[in-house]
Amino acid sequence: MNILNTLAFLVFPYLALTTFVVGLLYRYLTNPYNWNSKSSELLDKEGLKIGITIFHWGVILTLLGHGGGLLIPQKVYDFVGINSQVHTRLALVVGFIVGGAALLGLVLLTWRRITKDRVLATTTLNDFVTLGLLLFVITAGLANVVYGFFEHFDVLHSIAPWIRGIVTMTPDPTLMVQVPLRYKVHILSAFALIGFSPFSRLVHIWSAPFTYLFRRWIVFRRREAIF
Ligand code: HEM
Repeated sequence: MNILNTLAFLVFPYLALTTFVVGLLYRYLTNPYNWNSKSSELLDKEGLKIGITIFHWGVILTLLGHGGGLLIPQKVYDFVGINSQVHTRLALVVGFIVGGAALLGLVLLTWRRITKDRVLATTTLNDFVTLGLLLFVITAGLANVVYGFFEHFDVLHSIAPWIRGIVTMTPDPTLMVQVPLRYKVHILSAFALIGFSPFSRLVHIWSAPFTYLFRRWIVFRRREAIF
């Protein structure tokens, strides 16, 4: 078996996932007060609004799409009447919209970070690496979507079973041998981002404030004097 292929699509993904789990645990246990999104809203509220909203909707829907499209076997889609041709078309159109939104939002956020003095002054090298990696992964993913409109590659019977094998601990790197380089670049950079994320502000993803939706109302009183 091709040794480079095994290193890239067997060893590297598990190395990245191990770094991810151990890194998150280590950071949470050793420095819990540093676990946040490093909000810059106080430094510049107006410039943040549009970029942060478009980016978050785009990236969260993109991640859900990856989960639904790749982790659920095509057999299940066939069962509910969605054949692989329809599935692929749907993935391309929806992926283009939500991936495009993520990229547009990220470009706006990066532009804000560079051009607003107060925001730039508090930006670290780690923040730039995070934004750079996100830009790279999302651009490579979107490029594959655009390419997919013109040239078909059967993702559902190659990359999809490979990633399911990684998740279920039954990996088969040979499934990746015939995959075009453009997909490999996207996948490997995404695993690099996963491995790096515990050491960045991306830890905030795992503290999504879902309980907020279910908490009791807070009753506020007006400050005006009654008499
Ligand atoms: C799970 C739900 C998520 C919530 C509730 C959330 C919430 C937040 C909040 C509150 C901020 C700070 C905004 C500010 O400056 O005030 C932020 C920033 C950020 N988030 Fe998220 N986030 C989520 C998911 C994600 C995901 C999935 C990613 C990427 C994979 C991501 C990437 C970022 C980045 C890069 C920033 C910094 C943007 C900048 O300041 O330039 N977030 N997020």
